[in-house]
Amino acid sequence: MRITKDTIGVGFIGAGDISILHARAVAKVPGAKLVGLWNRSQDRATQRAAEFGGKNYATPEQLVADPAIDAVFVLTNLESHLEYTLLALNAGKHVLVEKPVGASVAEIEQMKALADSKNLICMPGHNYIYEGGMVRTRELVEGGDLGKIVSAYVMYNIHHPEDVAKRYPGVVRQILTHHSYILLYLVGKPVELCAMKATLHYKEYTEEDIAMVQMRLANGALAHFCASFAADDHAADPWTVMVKVIGTAGSTRYSYRDHVEIKPGLVHSQTYTAYQGSVMNEVKHFLIDCLRMGGQPLSTMADAVTAQKMIEAAEESIKGSKVVKL
Ligand SMILES: NC(=O)c1ccc[n+]([C@@H]2O[C@H](COP(=O)([O-])OP(=O)(O)OC[C@H]3O[C@@H](n4cnc5c(N)ncnc54)[C@H](O)[C@@H]3O)[C@@H](O)[C@H]2O)c1
Repeated sequence: MRITKDTIGVGFIGAGDISILHARAVAKVPGAKLVGLWNRSQDRATQRAAEFGGKNYATPEQLVADPAIDAVFVLTNLESHLEYTLLALNAGKHVLVEKPVGASVAEIEQMKALADSKNLICMPGHNYIYEGGMVRTRELVEGGDLGKIVSAYVMYNIHHPEDVAKRYPGVVRQILTHHSYILLYLVGKPVELCAMKATLHYKEYTEEDIAMVQMRLANGALAHFCASFAADDHAADPWTVMVKVIGTAGSTRYSYRDHVEIKPGLVHSQTYTAYQGSVMNEVKHFLIDCLRMGGQPLSTMADAVTAQKMIEAAEESIKGSKVVKL
């Protein structure tokens, strides 16, 4: 279903930190406009509506009922994604829902089924895969240009202060979700995995601030994830966010450290330009390639379901200290 009217109207449900990146992105997409937002706390809603420009709706129901809005971005915390995604889809709006998409496989399947039945796009906020370096890696893997894939690595080491981390689940759900959809997009699904986690720098928060996963892929290759809020990597060529795919005929690398600005970036100690850039690419893909041109998202709700299965397998592995089959 293509949107043919001159301006695609966007509404935000949730106006926390990530809404800042989404607002900047929407402002740069030709033929799209942020019409307004709703946020649970009115102070923040008023402040962000003034910063971004646009209406401040009294309720999420009023936002989704506005005919000027064609697409709703669900930018609240994980626990409320299902409620607001269903609300927007039932009002006939396309949805971009932040990751982790749902709290369980069943929640994500429910969102997918409703979007499919209404012929609406419901796109997961899988921002990393919209980077040029990721798309090129996938093309090389698909074309067989890297030969037989032998290994893949997704590493993340970005310090988060405890008061910031407390707003999120532990790094297994919050960060390994990114790793999971990146792996799916680049080299496919694992067949088995084992995981470990630890809490090393929080004083009070009891969720994990570091986790690692080892996996075996369908072709026999091995893969590794690391997700850490515990410390930044300050060494040369740091693994701030590093993705590697190694094959018998070639290999690729993606790094957050290719572009660094020496100023704080939201909750990060420095600004990694790729963070805003990946959200920019994702939003443009959603609004232009999918809604305007009628294409399908590069990363789908089916990927979100598989990513959630990987997260739940990692949790099972941690709980039982065992290898889990997928
Ligand atoms: N793609 C990425 O790289 C990325 C980065 C950061 C956050 N996120 C995701 O974006 C979402 C929001 O994160 P954030 O960093 O903006 O968090 P935040 O804490 O800054 O903002 C969350 C917002 O949700 C609202 N909220 C919380 N519980 C709610 C509820 N039950 N009902 C309605 N509103 C509620 C809060 O009022 C707040 O405005 C999360 O799902 C997070 O995982 C994605």
